Amino acid sequence: PLAQRHGGFERVIFGKTAHACEGSPNPWIGKPLVLLMFRRVDFTLRRVNVTPMTLHNRYPAISDLKARAKRRIPHFVWEYLDSATGVEATQRRNRAALERVLLNPSILHGEFEPDLSVRLLGQEHPLPVGIAPVGMSGLIWPGAEQMLARTAAKKSIPYTLSTVASQLPEDVGPHAGDNAWFQLYPPRDPGIRDDILGRAKAAGFGTLVLTVDVPVASRRERQTRGGLTNPPKLTPRLALQAAQCPAWRNGIRKTGMPRMRLMDSYSDIKGALPSTQHIGYLLRTSPDWDYFKSLREVWDGPLIVKGVCRPDDAARLTDEGADAIWVSNHAGRQFDGGPATIETLPAVRAATNLPVIFDSGIEGGLDVLRALSLGADFVMLGRAFHYGLGALGERGAAHVLDILRQDMISNMGQLGAKTLKNLSDCLRTTQ
Ligand code: LAC
Repeated sequence: PLAQRHGGFERVIFGKTAHACEGSPNPWIGKPLVLLMFRRVDFTLRRVNVTPMTLHNRYPAISDLKARAKRRIPHFVWEYLDSATGVEATQRRNRAALERVLLNPSILHGEFEPDLSVRLLGQEHPLPVGIAPVGMSGLIWPGAEQMLARTAAKKSIPYTLSTVASQLPEDVGPHAGDNAWFQLYPPRDPGIRDDILGRAKAAGFGTLVLTVDVPVASRRERQTRGGLTNPPKLTPRLALQAAQCPAWRNGIRKTGMPRMRLMDSYSDIKGALPSTQHIGYLLRTSPDWDYFKSLREVWDGPLIVKGVCRPDDAARLTDEGADAIWVSNHAGRQFDGGPATIETLPAVRAATNLPVIFDSGIEGGLDVLRALSLGADFVMLGRAFHYGLGALGERGAAHVLDILRQDMISNMGQLGAKTLKNLSDCLRTTQ
């Protein structure tokens, strides 16, 4: 019972003590002594609470949430969330290049509380991070969109609802408070586009994110092998996978099988399509500069362009009236032959005076600091928040933010960086 109550720490003590006891010449003398020791250890632990089972003890890193989420999300859904395109070399490059960004710790800087707050597009946020758009979010974890919107409202960080999420802007916007961003995959038909924009605005989405790095559908080989279709169809193989994930299945029983409900409201296509050719892709066109100009005319709130990797594009978007540039390679899901986003960030930063938002490959607070040190103003994560939901439900999304916050505070302490603006001074120029 002692070991059960306090977990691994006591088991180590138990193991050592039992071993010492076995070596004792007279076991009848050793036993009461050992029992007395256990009681003392037990009392001491209760008093000082050495091993409280907080979320931080059990899941100190986003990778811990990822491991648990993988067990709780059916394989075909996991493949949608976790995969990239091709041989996933860009996804690996995103990580490897982030790890190559080195910062120099400073010494004798005294005690201080780092200030993690940031002002972006007229709003104050306590952390420089937000929730990126993720397609079919509610399939990854039932009810995800509302859970993430609520988390964003509580923590005052942006939440971006995807055009191809499973819930409608009307059902999500009110949960996000002032933090609702809407991500647009540009529909071909301007009438549909304007209708979507009107609905998003009325539902409280004040900031628009135009995604431009999906000019055509990419080949997502792992997703194809996984067998996900849109709308999702539980073939016997997929139903077997779902049966192994009771928490996910119970959630889906409550929400119903998720569909891209916004797209459904404009489409009369019947039957299931492969996930890479879903209705979102059918509605989507490859926008050009004229499309951007007309969108700029109809949308009067902040307009962010997501999927920018080149300085010339960033400079032109600045001239054409964008409000922020979002550097992203879609986390490796679109093109497998490009550089890591962190490698493209400095040149984009130099090409514009607009706020620069960054995503792709972020797995912890140190990565956030790395991106900020290279000129980003704000960092977005998509998969990580869904790992949180898959592992722990709604509190898992808040826990992701807590991990990021604690990791940033600890690393800024090492660096001696009092504010986020100081981070670029910490950048190591030679490796
Ligand atoms: C994706 C699209 C839908 O990456 O954003 O799956």
